[in-house]
Amino acid sequence: MKVLVIGNGGREHALSWKLAQSPLAEKVFIAPGNAGTAAEGENVDISPTDTARLIKFAQAEEIGLTVVGPEAPLAAGLVDEFHEAGLKVFGPSKAAAEIEASKAFCKKLLRHADVPTADYRAFRDAEAAERYLNDRDDMPHVVKADGLAAGKGVVVCKNRAAALAAVKRIGVEREFGAAGNQIVIEQLLEGQEASILAITDGQTILTLPAAQDHKPALDGDEGPNTGGMGAYCPTPLINDEMFHWIEENTIVPVVHALKRGRRPFVGVLYAGLMITNSGPKVLEFNARFGDPECQPLLMRMKSDLLPVLDAAANGRLGEIEQPEWDPRPAVCVVMASQGYPGSYETGKPIRGLDAAADLDNVKAFHAGTALADGKTVTSGGRVLGVTAVGDTISAAKLNAYTAVKAIRWDGAWCRKDISDKALSLQVND
Ligand code: AMP
Ligand code: GLY
Repeated sequence: MKVLVIGNGGREHALSWKLAQSPLAEKVFIAPGNAGTAAEGENVDISPTDTARLIKFAQAEEIGLTVVGPEAPLAAGLVDEFHEAGLKVFGPSKAAAEIEASKAFCKKLLRHADVPTADYRAFRDAEAAERYLNDRDDMPHVVKADGLAAGKGVVVCKNRAAALAAVKRIGVEREFGAAGNQIVIEQLLEGQEASILAITDGQTILTLPAAQDHKPALDGDEGPNTGGMGAYCPTPLINDEMFHWIEENTIVPVVHALKRGRRPFVGVLYAGLMITNSGPKVLEFNARFGDPECQPLLMRMKSDLLPVLDAAANGRLGEIEQPEWDPRPAVCVVMASQGYPGSYETGKPIRGLDAAADLDNVKAFHAGTALADGKTVTSGGRVLGVTAVGDTISAAKLNAYTAVKAIRWDGAWCRKDISDKALSLQVND
């Protein structure tokens, strides 16, 4: 069958790399893709939100399965339109994707489904939010824009003054536009974060090994938040008992609540969790694979991904055998452009990709890259997700950073401590 992957980041490179290995995949197209995906299949110059052109392309090429990477086309209803056009697609409907597209919707659903999460209030106007904060003790809060804001609409506030300033930015100055139509104010949770992703057809749930992202820009989790500077999988933070507890108490009730609410979820349900002293609590749900979590996850997946996604898209996930995983851990280090997550320059030629490709147990997934005159150049903030497996987390880390050292461009930087959190949790590594 022909497969179409929608998106242009590291997640989509990992997806197209993995799907292209399937004996069932006749050809993989990526819309619009990047310099890395061009080596796995054929890039098609269509934007992820240009649904009409994507449908035309999928019909003309007789695509057997479309896999949607990012949240924006899901929230815009791409999946619904593909279905109306009679096309098979892996991803949630617009109604189901609201679990990510509206934090107020997500929190309400979690409350009704009795899923552990931070206490919260949602406000439609900034004045009411300000009154609420002024009526409460001066304490830490997390202030969130309701809608999609590329991970930037969440402000962790140490005190009331900071929370009031965040409400102003979101609700009055409208820094995030319509995403700020509602403001969610939550209790601050403390602990380590983990990401647990599950593939589901709305009925059967296939939970993937737990991963840990590194959102802050700088070593030791300092600096501004980013899309994710690295990830590793599995994480010793989540032992088997906790994994099953999280599955039973977060993923399963959410899949059922969405089904009961007539928004059956097909695709990847991603639980962002805080592991607090009083147990795991949900920070958010996403409606797609995490980026960069997808890279180490797929690096470890030994079985074919295509039949799993195809079965989920066809409501037959229950017929699929459990996938086989490489027992070795994987670590992904994101290499970024100077200035990211703020403004940065693009078009810098990248050297050393061939040398990195010669290393064993390593794959440099591309994120913000493009081809210019046959050369690979930078085109985004997060440029590469250099991913490696190793017998231990330390070995995987060493393999990843050995490849990172081989790659250079003007202004390249990365965190140096990806996966160190795991080392602090385990004794025998
Ligand atoms: P979200 O997009 O809702 O996951 O928020 C992005 C990031 O903000 C999370 O990964 C956490 O690091 C942080 N965050 C969100 N909600 C909370 C909370 N209630 N307590 C502490 N940190 C939070
Ligand atoms: N790594 C965080 C995300 O994909 O939302």
